[in-house]
Amino acid sequence: MAKKRLVVLTGAGISAESGFSTFRDNNGYWDKYDPEDVASIRGWERDRQYVLDFYNGVREQLRDASPNRGHMLIASLEKDYDVDVITQNVDNLHERAGSTRVLHLHGEVTKVRPEKGAYDRDFSVSEVFDIGYERVDVGDLAPNGTQLRPHIVWFGEAVPNIEKAMDIVMKADIFLIVGTSLSVYPAAGLYRYVRDGVPIYVIDPKDVNLRDKRVVHIREKAGVGMEKFIKILENSR
Ligand code: APR
Repeated sequence: MAKKRLVVLTGAGISAESGFSTFRDNNGYWDKYDPEDVASIRGWERDRQYVLDFYNGVREQLRDASPNRGHMLIASLEKDYDVDVITQNVDNLHERAGSTRVLHLHGEVTKVRPEKGAYDRDFSVSEVFDIGYERVDVGDLAPNGTQLRPHIVWFGEAVPNIEKAMDIVMKADIFLIVGTSLSVYPAAGLYRYVRDGVPIYVIDPKDVNLRDKRVVHIREKAGVGMEKFIKILENSR
């Protein structure tokens, strides 16, 4: 019998137990940095090195970080379910935990691309380079001679993978949301593409911006929450 399709939408909260700040919790990234300065085109054009240093810091932390129990348990579900992970995170912890189908909505911090290139006009053009955990500084140029920039979706920029994400969500038999406040669109609207009758689970220690009678809220952190979620799945098989 075909495996049920489990779609998991994750945000910064899934990486919190790996030592990463979230964005909107106390002492989160947006308490320490103005998103306008480090996650917008205007910020980039105002001070490229400041932006590059922000992501150099995230990349350096990612090199020494590890996937946590939440990431591992999501990956482990691939043995019994057809799992797609749709993440707003730019880290590679889902992949390092063993998840094999991960769709990044807001880019990947281990990748860079020319600040002016064909990709800006046609997202299918692959002029994206994987630099792992290395630094990028002003003066590091792409083959086309323009400055290398993080392959991250900044506020106000298009989200190239959103249509693919919608298609995936429309096929879900089970929809799970872990560690996102659902504050940023279009990611926050993806739950609307879940078919009628498909259960929606949320794992988050706090309330999230989702009013939907189908939602089962597991009020836990990701690691414990995933254990409880897996028990619910086992009891409903
Ligand atoms: N386990 C699970 N959830 C947690 C944990 C944890 N250990 N710690 C915090 N959370 C929850 C918070 O309660 C909150 O609901 O994770 C969520 C984090 O929300 P945000 O900080 O808003 O992060 P996110 O939803 O991923 O932000 C979306 O905003 O700034 C942009 O591009 C950035 O991708 C990001 C997007």
